[in-house]
Amino acid sequence: MTGAVRSPWWRHAVIYQIYPRSFADSDADGVGDIRGICTRLDYLQALGVDALWLSPIFRSPMCDAGYDICDYLDVDPLFGSLDDLDSLIDQAHRRGLKIILDFVPNHTSDQHPWFMSSRASRDSDKRDWYIWRDQPNNWRAAIGGGSAWSWDEQSQQYYLHFFLPQQPDLNWQNPQVVAAMHEVLRFWLDRGVDGFRVDVVHCIGKDPHFADDSRCLAGEAMVHINDQPYSHEILRGLRRLVDSYSPGRVLIGEVNIRSTRQVAAYYGASDELHMSFNFPPLDANWDPVIFRLCIREVESELGPLQAWPTWVLSNHDNSRHRTRYGGSELRARAAAVLLLSLRGTPFIYQGEELGLEDVLVDAQTRVDPGGRDGSRAPIPWTLRPPHGWAGGSTWLPFAPQAGASSVQAQSGQAGSVLELYRRLIACRRASLALTTGAWQELPSHPQVLAYRRWCDDDERVVCINFSDTEQVFALSGQWQVQLASDRQGEGCPFTGRLAGEQAVILYRGRHDNELASDHDHLPD
Ligand code: GLC
Repeated sequence: MTGAVRSPWWRHAVIYQIYPRSFADSDADGVGDIRGICTRLDYLQALGVDALWLSPIFRSPMCDAGYDICDYLDVDPLFGSLDDLDSLIDQAHRRGLKIILDFVPNHTSDQHPWFMSSRASRDSDKRDWYIWRDQPNNWRAAIGGGSAWSWDEQSQQYYLHFFLPQQPDLNWQNPQVVAAMHEVLRFWLDRGVDGFRVDVVHCIGKDPHFADDSRCLAGEAMVHINDQPYSHEILRGLRRLVDSYSPGRVLIGEVNIRSTRQVAAYYGASDELHMSFNFPPLDANWDPVIFRLCIREVESELGPLQAWPTWVLSNHDNSRHRTRYGGSELRARAAAVLLLSLRGTPFIYQGEELGLEDVLVDAQTRVDPGGRDGSRAPIPWTLRPPHGWAGGSTWLPFAPQAGASSVQAQSGQAGSVLELYRRLIACRRASLALTTGAWQELPSHPQVLAYRRWCDDDERVVCINFSDTEQVFALSGQWQVQLASDRQGEGCPFTGRLAGEQAVILYRGRHDNELASDHDHLPD
């Protein structure tokens, strides 16, 4: 049996993040919805992705775009109905696409009946479901930057919120909270979902002493530094629950701390998260030194633990990577090669396959209190306005060049970013080396990041030129260019010359099929 057959689906999958309010709209209200997603499954299937992760679609007052949930067991009318979601799960499954929902365990909305009851009286049976104190400590909230504690006039105590005051933190030390949240997971697993992306999962365990944290004095928010042993116990409980269902259900954690070693601990002994997001590349600029360090760290920290890595360049909380890389399409194209050829599961954020940039939002149009609207603009489906979004206006304006970057403009266009993503995903899918194969860095070059991927006799070399000038990166043996980010040289022998900001995937030339040794790729 091959590695790909033996390994669980998520190890060789490409996962696509859908931000539902900006993906596709079926009812012309300018906000995307679940039926809209259903109308675009052909597109996603043609792109070649394996699973769709949906940012929250649950009932919510939308203070934090749905990450403030007031009913975990229902769909917000803005996005449709439970029937619509059942239908999406069904239609996706018929096409072989998995569905991953966003599970938000750290906090609810302040409009959730649990919190309404909790704040109503100190004697409420839900009082201890949240974290109440007479005195706040110095912890800081992530959105708005103020205190992580808010005063509740009615019950005369402070409650804790790592995010907005409208997002009170649950108390996972209370077994009733654990049981209630397990019920939430069961509800969705019973409906057939294939797993969960678990929001800020490292935050659920809190320092039992509620001690001041000196890092908060320096301006950091608790969300980026909180890391408690207790979180692991909670995670093992979640994992046991998920594993009690049919195999293949997956837990992907948002462990939003910057130490790869700490993040690695959230995989447990294969009894916590199946995968965790890896944040450093999401913050990184277009710099070979930074990327080399990120990749080495992932390989050295996760590799020995058999913990499977993830790679992500953009999401709904951060600037799109093309914008971060100075707007350059060439860089965005080379980055796509990197994303889809590293060892680990790649996550594509909707619209990056179109090469979208951030939208600039002025003070009047601003929606997100956290200032993250830039990467949340609607997907342009058609060339002409309103770009496949019937009706007056969309909830956020389109990103620049919406027509030219639309799906309609790029589909079937050989040189487009969209076609590059399709070809890369297909190339990855067809190669065990690129999916589950081993990874090894090739000798260092100041501007070129190069690595080898292999599995049995399937072997690829990937070279990425981070500079905007031609670089020479000679390899021993004969190599053919299978795919190039700018299409130059595809199908030809690799000459060792890489154009500025060009990335290539190489395979062994036909007359050079001996197995590679560890040191036969020597750059000039
Ligand atoms: C995660 C989400 C982000 C949200 C926060 C609070 O970081 O990705 O959008 O604001 O959690 O739920």
